[in-house]
Amino acid sequence: MEDRLVSNDIELGEINFEQSLRPKTLRQYIGQDKVKKNLEVFIEAAKLREETLDHVLLYGPPGLGKTTLAAVIANEMGVQLRTTSGPAIERPGDLAAVLTALEPGDVLFIDEIHRLQRSIEEVLYPAMEDFCLDILIGKGPSARSVRLDLPPFTLVGATTRAGSLSAPLRDRFGVLSRLEYYEEAQLQDIVQRTSEILETEITEEAAGEIARRSRGTPRIANRLLRRVRDFAQVRGDGMVTTQLTIDALNLLQVDSVGLDHIDHKLLRAIIERFRGGPVGLDTIAASIGEESHTIEDVYEPYLLQIGFLQRTPRGRMVTDLVYRHLGMEIPKEE
Ligand code: ADE
Repeated sequence: MEDRLVSNDIELGEINFEQSLRPKTLRQYIGQDKVKKNLEVFIEAAKLREETLDHVLLYGPPGLGKTTLAAVIANEMGVQLRTTSGPAIERPGDLAAVLTALEPGDVLFIDEIHRLQRSIEEVLYPAMEDFCLDILIGKGPSARSVRLDLPPFTLVGATTRAGSLSAPLRDRFGVLSRLEYYEEAQLQDIVQRTSEILETEITEEAAGEIARRSRGTPRIANRLLRRVRDFAQVRGDGMVTTQLTIDALNLLQVDSVGLDHIDHKLLRAIIERFRGGPVGLDTIAASIGEESHTIEDVYEPYLLQIGFLQRTPRGRMVTDLVYRHLGMEIPKEE
């Protein structure tokens, strides 16, 4: 897989950058209105009752602010955030160590929670339900189970695949919130907000142009803004204008709807080699030299989201929108 400017994943060099931009409160958090409204009520109610917030499962595509939201929840509840991830917890003891270090009310954030091993999940069940931990001491016939009390806490789990979470784990969350791709207007607001934090001047139209090319994803919007700001400083007077934004993003090969050269390669391959499809995923993968699962997990979701690709029982098909977007003639029905 190549590096992509429009990747949903966070890059090593932008962790600090992203953290500095994170909203701290629900009021500052732009978009995801449905999720926010629900959380507002649940947080308020938990505070009134002086209880911990119910466990929250956040699911949806990467880059939409699950980690940010977990931090906002902790901040709004006035408690600490502890962070770990499914793959980081290798043994039941690792989870026990995390859980016993919690303080009353803390938010424990487990990213990629679908990647927890089943044996570890089972440690989590009594912890979530009764705030206790069953530990097995010793081996063989003399082994016995000891029950340890934990401080009450809120688990915030994040996953890109709610479907691959086991049912018993999913059922133990009181709040299930699905994050959606952001709308252009919301991304534009995020770009404006980030510009203010970076002390960069930007026109409304330029912010809209970045928003349109950001694939519904704040992380990408902020990344593109940072690159465009470099162009503005070097090529212009620091002001981010529409024309400068268009020129910079074209040069960076991010097209008018946020597609890059890999998306183009994929779409063109389906059109030129398979008459627009339907064509099987493995066949496409072999023809452009990519892994099937990379296409499925990384390249395809946004193309499906904007209606450029369709999944059919006989494989993937491009839609008429693609021909129009690429300036190609729509083939006639045979
Ligand atoms: N930066 C990244 N995501 C954001 C969001 N949802 N609201 C405000 N700023 C953000």
